[in-house]
Amino acid sequence: MGFLFTKRTLQHNCLVHKLVILFIDMSNSNSSTKTILTLGGVAAGALATYWWRKQQQELCAASFEYPAGIALITGASSGIGEAYARKLAAVGYDLMLVARREDRLETLGSELSDDYGVDVQYLAADLSTQVGINKVAKYIRDSGNVSFLVNNAGFGTLTTFEQTKPNLVDKMVKLHVLATAALCRAALPAMIDQQAGFIINVSSVMSYMAEPEHANYCATKAYITTLSESLDREVSPHGVAVQALCPGLTRTEFHQAENFESFDASVYPDVMWQTTDAVVDASLQHLHTKRGGVCIPGPLNQAITSVARYHSIAPFLTTLYQKMTGQVSLQTDSTD
Ligand SMILES: NC(=O)c1ccc[n+]([C@@H]2O[C@H](COP(=O)([O-])OP(=O)(O)OC[C@H]3O[C@@H](n4cnc5c(N)ncnc54)[C@H](OP(=O)(O)O)[C@@H]3O)[C@@H](O)[C@H]2O)c1
Repeated sequence: MGFLFTKRTLQHNCLVHKLVILFIDMSNSNSSTKTILTLGGVAAGALATYWWRKQQQELCAASFEYPAGIALITGASSGIGEAYARKLAAVGYDLMLVARREDRLETLGSELSDDYGVDVQYLAADLSTQVGINKVAKYIRDSGNVSFLVNNAGFGTLTTFEQTKPNLVDKMVKLHVLATAALCRAALPAMIDQQAGFIINVSSVMSYMAEPEHANYCATKAYITTLSESLDREVSPHGVAVQALCPGLTRTEFHQAENFESFDASVYPDVMWQTTDAVVDASLQHLHTKRGGVCIPGPLNQAITSVARYHSIAPFLTTLYQKMTGQVSLQTDSTD
């Protein structure tokens, strides 16, 4: 009946309408024709989406410009943050580097100014304290010239929630949640005013997961991903892009840190690991072609997060993870 009604109401003699009528006639035919039509429709839809996205990316890349101003990078004393510092200095940014280890920032700063002739300053701050957050936020507000902000400082823990030292739970929430929010809040007014600016908030593939022994990490990183996606939609009409970078396993000092000693890197095959260069290149490439939103570097991490988003499959991933890491399954324990 629905088909008949639709057919009668199509009055115009244009090609699209003829095709629609052909589709309606064919969909009334046998089931193999319907299957072919459905598959054809899906393939045509996928091709059209791919073509449209490619066009958008080319348009985006053609109009790409790094906004003038300073790039401020937190957690620049090692790993992913250091890689951002190197790559942004190479494209000519003056830098403000933030972390606790002053000696590292000083050495990196003088190396980058010698190599690229840019002005590099540093601010020693513990961003898991309100004093440290206020210090960096004040710098951003006072300078009014931070056009590229990378909220990257972070750390992990590898213990059950009830065994994690209470001060570490607190520190992680302050560093990942409060510092990220406060520095975005401090930087955005000037960026919106100048109708230009980039913010990269370093999250993790774990922001899509809910893993034992990483509860606070998964939860705080989920905050970063969601904040960044929402902010991007809010500020993109003002020429500002906010990206959530969600790396998977990356070779840095992250896994050697205190409270991560029980981590056994050898459990994870080489193919799962990325270098800091690959991660930061993917992030900057995403900025070129798509600007804000979520960037998941590497096809393997993209596949893992697509699966992890389906909550019915998540417990299977947890079991797999526990088997790989030799943990006892918490679920099995409770039902025994
Ligand atoms: N490596 C991975 O496999 C991986 C995967 C997904 C996401 N990530 C994320 O990537 C980001 C960077 O980590 P990374 O892998 O590059 O590890 P990393 O080499 O250990 O670097 C962490 C950086 O954060 C800084 N930092 C830590 N606590 C801080 C605090 N309280 N105040 C200020 N700075 C602080 C550290 O500097 P100081 O010690 O000098 O303060 C260091 O520069 C983190 O947010 C992490 O969650 C890493």
